[in-house]
Amino acid sequence: MKAVIHEKYGPPEVLEVVELDMPTPKDNEVLIKIHATTLNRTDTGMRSAAYFVSRFVTGLFRPKLAVTGTEFAGIVTTVGADVKEYKVGDKVFGFDDSSFGAHAEYKVEPSAGPMAKIPSGFSYHEVAAAGEGATYALNILEAAKVKKGQNILIYGASGAIGSAAVQICKHLGTKVTAVCGTKNVKLIKSLGADKVYDYQTEDFTGTSDKFDLIVDAVGKSSYGVCKPLLAPNGTYVSSELGRWGQNVFLAIWFAATGKRKVIFPIPKINKEKMNQIKLLLESGDYKPVVDSMYDLEDIVEATKYVETGQKTGNVIIRVI
Ligand SMILES: NC(=O)c1ccc[n+]([C@@H]2O[C@H](COP(=O)([O-])OP(=O)(O)OC[C@H]3O[C@@H](n4cnc5c(N)ncnc54)[C@H](OP(=O)(O)O)[C@@H]3O)[C@@H](O)[C@H]2O)c1
Repeated sequence: MKAVIHEKYGPPEVLEVVELDMPTPKDNEVLIKIHATTLNRTDTGMRSAAYFVSRFVTGLFRPKLAVTGTEFAGIVTTVGADVKEYKVGDKVFGFDDSSFGAHAEYKVEPSAGPMAKIPSGFSYHEVAAAGEGATYALNILEAAKVKKGQNILIYGASGAIGSAAVQICKHLGTKVTAVCGTKNVKLIKSLGADKVYDYQTEDFTGTSDKFDLIVDAVGKSSYGVCKPLLAPNGTYVSSELGRWGQNVFLAIWFAATGKRKVIFPIPKINKEKMNQIKLLLESGDYKPVVDSMYDLEDIVEATKYVETGQKTGNVIIRVI
């Protein structure tokens, strides 16, 4: 089968499209014929190992698992002897950052892994990008204990995490103020944001509004900048570590003092999350935003684009 591998950490060019033997599912696994996958920031982070800490998961000196790719949408072609939940022909999607292997024609996945059945009426290409951004957004919103009626600011609303967070916040019944660049203002309004600031022409910190939660979904702002906009019991959360890892240290500091001014939740990536996302897709409350599509052979080009930090939503990789 065709697959993308990397045998060392480094720039996008370490990725190679090669022919590999088909994987064989264990008794608790299914074999999936992948139709579509994505190139996301989890993939780029793990490939580059820009944050050294990621090597404790992916391999200290070189990648333990050669085949890249975390999000997938495809069809089950073989089921292991102990698998009860899936049968041959089931259409599934998922986001697994522990087994990787989604940038390939076939992948094995534990039946208990972060995967769910594709709701009827959705194409593989529509749901391939449903997992990553929404998983991180759900983790953040759950850790912040978001409630109906709260006032929330999403900074960097046009990324995979931000665009999912805007939609899920509206689903939860909150008021949403979003910050994004000029080209995405219309899109973010169409996702339901009540107010949108264009960071290229406006300073969102000039608002007199106070927020119960500020989500920096692209790590381009900071607690210091956002602090004056927080309501008395408001919380700041970022998808990035911040300069010198400050968001982690602030979260530890505030946890020790019993306050929750800054949190840095460890993401839970599991089946429960995928089932939550499935329900959001079915209800129409969440639709992954798609920026562009590339073929598997063009993975290096797709990676370079994603690493510009300017993708809007998600980049799909066509396998079929
Ligand atoms: N904690 C984790 O485990 C984890 C996992 C995955 C990703 N991440 C991090 O989360 C961040 C977001 O990832 P993502 O995939 O959602 O999005 P992304 O691809 O990194 O974000 C792209 C979006 O950010 C917007 N943007 C760029 N510069 C901006 C600025 N100065 N202010 C506001 N918006 C700006 C861009 O559009 P416009 O400027 O045109 O609006 C673009 O739509 C990344 O930094 C990534 O490394 C963390």
